[in-house]
Amino acid sequence: MDARQMKIKAAEAALNYVEDGMRLGIGTGSTAEEFVRLLAEKVAAGLKVEGVPTSERTARLCLELGVPLKSLDELPELDLTIDGADEVDGALRLIKGGGGALLREKIVAAASSRMIVIADESKVVPTLGAFALPVEVNPFGLTSTRIAIEKAAEKLGLSGELRLRGGDDEVFTTDGGHYIIDASFGRIPDAEALAIALNSIPGVVEHGLFINLATLAIIAGPAGARVIEAKH
Ligand code: A5P
Repeated sequence: MDARQMKIKAAEAALNYVEDGMRLGIGTGSTAEEFVRLLAEKVAAGLKVEGVPTSERTARLCLELGVPLKSLDELPELDLTIDGADEVDGALRLIKGGGGALLREKIVAAASSRMIVIADESKVVPTLGAFALPVEVNPFGLTSTRIAIEKAAEKLGLSGELRLRGGDDEVFTTDGGHYIIDASFGRIPDAEALAIALNSIPGVVEHGLFINLATLAIIAGPAGARVIEAKH
């Protein structure tokens, strides 16, 4: 089974949690897109759901495939969000934002009663941090914010390259008009402490540590899909 097939397996398993009439948060990334494709087939066959997309990219795919969409203001409380992740640990802490949609993803997940993560085995880690942590920042005062992130990380014993996504010449801009700094800390033993420290920096809009948000993860491997349930 190749990586795409594993993503499809996880997305298929997630569809079992989708019920008629649900208000759905719809994630971003290649795994979430497999879910959108399968969801669109069910919608074409008569399933009634309304989706809130976590990015413009997901919105485009949903519209193309006929998945009915609403804005989060029209549907401010959601039943279930299904989204991918860049890393998942055993306590269902996540790193997200590899696709640059972390702010809307977090707002949508927080507005949902449940969040199911779909991923292949390569995303499961004992400790978060091998994947560079995306930190969404306001373009104003970028250098000050970068220094503040460095200092906050240092206090927690973390260091590593802080890279502006896209570089200075072709800087990546999020759907919200912000920039992303990818922080290569290597290993984040205390994700909760880092989340609090980053949240206290004014120029940081949001970071890709998702803690206490995912309620279930469906992890697909060559032998099939397994489930990790949250204890929170
Ligand atoms: C988007 O911003 C991310 O949070 C994605 O959910 C994450 O990068 C997973 O993407 P893939 O499913 O493409 O690996």
